[in-house]
Amino acid sequence: MADGRIAVIGSGYVGLTSGACLAGLGHEVVCGDIDAGKVAALARGEVPILESGLDDMVARGLESGRLTFVHGAVAAARGAKYIFLCLPTPDGGDGRADLRIVHDVVAEIGPALDAGAILITKSTVPVGTARDITATVNRADVAVVSNPEFLQEGTAVSNFMHPDRIVVGSSDRAAAEAVADLYQALGAPAVVTSPESSELIKYASNAFLAMKLSFINSIGALAETVGADVAEIANGMGFDERIGPKFLKSGPGWGGSCFPKDTRALATIAADHDVSFPLLQATTLSNDQAQDRVADKVRAAAGGSLAGVRIALWGLTFKAGTDDLRDSPALAVAGRLAAEGAVLRAFDPAVSADIKAGEDRPGISVAPDPYSAVTGAAVLVVLTEWPLFAEVDLVKTAEGMIGRGIVDGRGMIDPNLARSAGFNLIPLGRPAYHAQSGSR
Ligand code: UGA
Repeated sequence: MADGRIAVIGSGYVGLTSGACLAGLGHEVVCGDIDAGKVAALARGEVPILESGLDDMVARGLESGRLTFVHGAVAAARGAKYIFLCLPTPDGGDGRADLRIVHDVVAEIGPALDAGAILITKSTVPVGTARDITATVNRADVAVVSNPEFLQEGTAVSNFMHPDRIVVGSSDRAAAEAVADLYQALGAPAVVTSPESSELIKYASNAFLAMKLSFINSIGALAETVGADVAEIANGMGFDERIGPKFLKSGPGWGGSCFPKDTRALATIAADHDVSFPLLQATTLSNDQAQDRVADKVRAAAGGSLAGVRIALWGLTFKAGTDDLRDSPALAVAGRLAAEGAVLRAFDPAVSADIKAGEDRPGISVAPDPYSAVTGAAVLVVLTEWPLFAEVDLVKTAEGMIGRGIVDGRGMIDPNLARSAGFNLIPLGRPAYHAQSGSR
């Protein structure tokens, strides 16, 4: 076990998962947060986010005494050897991350740090941040290391415990290696780089995955017009080890709190350095088109106009296994439908309150179960891949609806069950099934 305590500053999604899992690896971890109410709740073992296995990990950490929560950054950082910065880096409005919180915290804790302490950036930060933090902290006896996280919401604990790699970048190689050693028990390869490379690895990874998804969604658009099936194509492509089978599932576009923000940020970084990177613009444009295509299918299924038409949505979160609605493709599609006058009612197992109309989302009433969401609907649209949607009784679903169209954005609905319930199933990436003719 590493000698020296770990501090994690910021108990949001990244900080809480990292802190609890590092304690799970046997380290002594103190998590600090500015929100006293959240700290008190976490100290009681109350986890404020839906994240599989995180409650258990926090409970075990608290029980072992290796995980504690304190109010404030300085209280956590004082006496620690490793200080992980897991702070919000919101979009500053111009595509650049707003780093004020990070620099404020570094300036606050800097004088309180022990000699030999290592400051570690865990949240996604622009290239150059590690060097900027080195200037802000302004102490020769404190090292700065970039150690990006590659956790996926919904499977973050499992991702932490089974990483593909650990990336650490620093101008102080010994400090980078000491940070990599914190994860030694996981047996993952450590990639030791310069801080700039480490920071870019994170953006490049997220933007590359977003590009892969945009690519398969565009192949899906082509497939449905030529009579091919995107799932078959993805399967055939995925066996090529240079391509790989993962992140080839087409859907209503990609979203979440990371891909849109990071793809935009990387485009801005490239532009700021006068580097032409057209793939990034194309990746975002293709994603907008994927969402347009779902809305086009819903309009067509509703008979050509959405004005005053009731549309049922199954799924609101940006993917299954999370309650996160940030930059959700489901809301992006819903926004397009609402803009044309559709009346939206939704069911999502992780969302219980109505969605209030705002800048980035339309008003949506939320039903307590899949059947009450479809009452009076002309079309049903499946937007998030919650497994329970494959189990819903489609005959009962049809009884409540006035129309017979299901636009299946996630490939969840069995075509044969849909057909026998009298539905026209309109999938993405392959030709539609028509109940009447029984043909594609
Ligand atoms: C993403 C990355 O996958 C993580 O590696 C990274 O650490 C994280 O961002 C971050 O930067 O913090 P996450 O935002 O949790 O993780 O979401 P993903 O599981 O990557 O899904 C992103 C979007 O792509 C979702 O809308 C999802 O539905 C969509 N997707 C994903 C597909 O449409 N098809 C797929 O095959 C996979």
